Amino acid sequence: MIESVEQGNKTMNDLIIKAAKDLAGAKSVAALTGAGISVESGIPPFRGKGGIWETIDPMEYAHINAFMENPEKVWNVLLRGLKEIIEQAKPNDAHKGLAKLEKLGILKTIITQNIDGLHQRAGNTDVIEFHGNFAWHRCLDCNKRCETLKIDLKEIPPRCECGGILRPEFVFFGEAIPSYSLMRSQEVASECDIMLVVGTSAIVQPAAFMPMIAKESGAKIIEVNPEKTPLTGRISDYLLMGKAGQIINKLTTEVEKLLEVPS
Ligand code: OAD
Repeated sequence: MIESVEQGNKTMNDLIIKAAKDLAGAKSVAALTGAGISVESGIPPFRGKGGIWETIDPMEYAHINAFMENPEKVWNVLLRGLKEIIEQAKPNDAHKGLAKLEKLGILKTIITQNIDGLHQRAGNTDVIEFHGNFAWHRCLDCNKRCETLKIDLKEIPPRCECGGILRPEFVFFGEAIPSYSLMRSQEVASECDIMLVVGTSAIVQPAAFMPMIAKESGAKIIEVNPEKTPLTGRISDYLLMGKAGQIINKLTTEVEKLLEVPS
C-alpha cells in the first residue's frame, strides 16, 4: 500500500489517479528514465546516499581519457563491479509497469539514461539508450563487437581475439551522445503529449533537457521520484513522490481500471 503523502491539498493516491486519467486520455506518451528506476533491482544510483559517485570520482574512473590512459584501473574499480551487478539484476515492478503501459497502447517510447537493458528485458520495444549500453563491448583496435556476458574477466582489461582492449558501448564522460539517439530523443520529446520522468536527478545534460523540450512543445510532465529535482515545481506538472516500483505499479493498475482491462 502506498503511503499517502500530502502535496498541497491532494493526497498521493489522488495524484496517482489524476496521472492515470491523464495517461489514459493521452495520444502519445514518452518516458525519460534514470538510475532511480533500477534501484529496486539492486543497481545503485550515481548520486545521493549509496550512489556510485559517492565513493568513485567519475572524472578519475568514468571519463574517456581515464579509460584510454589506464583501462586496467577503470576495469578494476568501476567496470568489473558494474558487470557483476547488472548481470544479476532483474526488471522490477517499475520496468514491468512501463512494459504494461506499452502493451496497453499508452506508452510509445522510453528514453533511458540507463545502460542496464532492464526496460527491454521487461518487454518495452522502443527504448532509446541515451547513454549507450553495457550489453556490448567493442574492440579499440579492430572495432569487433563482443557480448558483455561472454567476456571473461580472468584477464583485466579484457581483450578481443585480435589482442585489442575491449571498451563498453556506453557513453563515457567526455564523449558525445550518439547523434541518432540524440535526434530521436528530441523528436520523441517534441511529439509526446505526456512525458513520464522516472528516477532521474535531471541534472545531466543533454538528457535533462528532454523534459524541457516536451514542456515547450505543450506536453504535461509527470515526475516519479522519492525526492524533488530541479524539474519539480518548474517543469513538472506534478511529482508522484515515492519509489518507482510502488508508484508505477499503482499507476498501471489505475490505468487498467480506466481502460476496463479485465484483471
Ligand atoms: P542519479 O543517480 O543522478 O539520480 C537518481 C535519481 O533517482 C535521484 O533523483 C533519486 O532521488 C532517484 N531515486 C532513488 N531511488 C529511487 C527509487 N527507488 N525510485 C525512483 N527514483 C529513485 O541518476 P541519473 O539521473 O540517471 O551518466 O544520472 C544521470 C547520468 O549521470 C547517468 O546516466 C550517468 C551519470 O553520471 C553517465 O555515466 C554518462
